[in-house]
Amino acid sequence: MSDDLLALVAATDTALATATDLRAWDAIRVGVLGKSGSLTEKLKALGALPPDQRRERGAAINRAKDAITAAIETRKAALESAALDAKLSGERIDVTLPPLLAPPGLIHPISRTMEEMAAIFGAMGISIAEGPDIEDDWRNFGALNIPAHHSAREDMDTFYLPGLNGDARRRVMRTHTSPVQVRTMLTQAPPIRVIVPGRTYRADHDATHSPMFHQVEGLVIDRGITLGHLKGCLIDFLREFFGISSLPVRFRSSYFPFTEPSMEVDIGWNRRTGELGGGDWLEILGSGMVHPKVLANCGIDPREWQGFAFGMGIERVTMLKHGIPDLRPFYESDIRWLRHYGFSALAPVALHEGV
Ligand code: DAH
Repeated sequence: MSDDLLALVAATDTALATATDLRAWDAIRVGVLGKSGSLTEKLKALGALPPDQRRERGAAINRAKDAITAAIETRKAALESAALDAKLSGERIDVTLPPLLAPPGLIHPISRTMEEMAAIFGAMGISIAEGPDIEDDWRNFGALNIPAHHSAREDMDTFYLPGLNGDARRRVMRTHTSPVQVRTMLTQAPPIRVIVPGRTYRADHDATHSPMFHQVEGLVIDRGITLGHLKGCLIDFLREFFGISSLPVRFRSSYFPFTEPSMEVDIGWNRRTGELGGGDWLEILGSGMVHPKVLANCGIDPREWQGFAFGMGIERVTMLKHGIPDLRPFYESDIRWLRHYGFSALAPVALHEGV
């Protein structure tokens, strides 16, 4: 290879070494091998040489071209892999970052109310019982002394399902948590002290009713249970739950097929402002002494055992306690609503702090 070609190969190597990105690299490539690049010009000049020199010079230029092309490709690969490394390290995700950088999860107000109820009734020695959402007619109605002609049995209020495996008896989406009273009495010997928080279903849908909602049932059975126990238990619960020690509570005579006597329970409330404790009354739950027929239906001798029961809507007391005006967003899974009304998972219910 002649001096000028050796010099060109060396100059190209030096230039390539200083190119730090593909743009600079391409400029060098074009400057040597492009249409009017320095090596291309030498090729063009071949034509002016006498034939005997042309052959040797042509072979030398081609060797120079091979060397330069190889250097250019090597540099290109190096620059491309450096660019990829830079991109990868720029996009790296640090999986060791602490999760608290994400917004923390929140407890839904319905769950929070259930936890508070479990804590308050738990402190009274009452435990939690559960039952299935799909019930049979007897447990949801019959055993509870709800007669065949009662309006609650009508298709309008109740979601019915066909019987299972050829059984002609239709099943129901439980319309209240009261069938768990029946289940508990059939499987536990008295004394019994349970609450039953859970889902219930009715064919009803507007601003204050949802086809799925939550109730909590209460059942206490022992010897010598009186209305006084019922009243004391519910007054204590309501004052504790709403955090107002002087909350007015009124018991008003009423009717339920499964209790005798039966009472609605009202709390003091201001009709105009919605504030608790005020001079008007707001109905909040149903209660009564367990009907002797219900005890007998569930295999408990009413001459030996007495009991009281109650049932209340969880959404209703939650809305009242926290001033939540609309029922529908409870089930819409809107994260903005939950951020506003939800509770920190790190702040568990603690009775000594007041709930
Ligand atoms: N099950 C009734 C309802 O859904 C509520 C209720 C009232 C439950 C009185 C009771 C009770 O246990 O004693 O409307």
